[in-house]
Amino acid sequence: MTTTATPVLRTEFEKSVADYWNTNRQDPVNLRLGEVDGLYHHHYGVGAIDPSVLAAPAQTRDQRIIAELHRLESAQADLLLDHLGPIGPEDQLLDAGSGRGGTSIMANARFGCQVDGVSISEYQVAFANEQAAQRGVADQVRFHFRNMLDSGLPAGSRQAIWTNETTMYVDLADLYREFAGLLRFGGRYVCITGCANDVTGGRSKAVSRIDEHYTCNIHPRSAYFKALAANNLVPINVIDLTAQTIPYWELRSRSSVATGIESAFLTAYREGSFHYLLIAADRV
Ligand SMILES: C[S@@+](CC[C@H](N)C(=O)[O-])C[C@H]1O[C@@H](n2cnc3c(N)ncnc32)[C@H](O)[C@@H]1O
Repeated sequence: MTTTATPVLRTEFEKSVADYWNTNRQDPVNLRLGEVDGLYHHHYGVGAIDPSVLAAPAQTRDQRIIAELHRLESAQADLLLDHLGPIGPEDQLLDAGSGRGGTSIMANARFGCQVDGVSISEYQVAFANEQAAQRGVADQVRFHFRNMLDSGLPAGSRQAIWTNETTMYVDLADLYREFAGLLRFGGRYVCITGCANDVTGGRSKAVSRIDEHYTCNIHPRSAYFKALAANNLVPINVIDLTAQTIPYWELRSRSSVATGIESAFLTAYREGSFHYLLIAADRV
């Protein structure tokens, strides 16, 4: 594990976010799903569910629902990787806010290239490095205790960067200034995130509940495009994944690993105060 000379956790807010991820280790929705195939995610899922899992016999029903939720989470990560553009084995990628490392390990398996992940949770960084070691890819996939707003990585070193459900923890102008410095000309940035709907206006109660639950600050949709444009990041693809993520939340709300936040996501998506977006942008 490597870090930077400046303190990784610079504000009380960042300390509280790190504390959340350092102490919230045993959440079965992350551990039991990760145990399905050893890819540990801390994000949500997309795609149609296989309804037969809900009708499965009692002895297998729970495990089949877990496997189905995990399949949808990995499908979300695959979709993100589909948008990174052509990546060769010589390229270097950055997973900004890398959690327990599942998306980084998938990226390395797909592209055969070096991936660095950064997280402000020391626990997660150690866990993710252990996963990379167990898979025999620790020389190519490395996780660091670093702040994605000040990564310490060399300027212009990245062909692609992604944020998979991490942007709600940071100021977007600061984040995209950092990414614009790390990406080479023509490099790609891909983001999957929940964002508030400017059209419905203000912050709905359901969105506020999600913020409160995760100690985060969900940005309005407009904030993404302003911050991207201000930092020479030009969108090439914007996909509204809201309809594709609702089945995941419906299934999760009926599962043994529901955490209680499912109703807020379902309300927010159904009432239209919240979207699940994929944004892919080129560095110019
Ligand atoms: C919801 S998890 C997503 C994890 C991962 N991207 C995934 O898809 O499984 C949010 C992650 O963002 C990280 N994070 C939050 N603020 C950060 C910051 N300023 N710098 C680096 N990581 C940060 C947290 O430590 C956590 O790993």
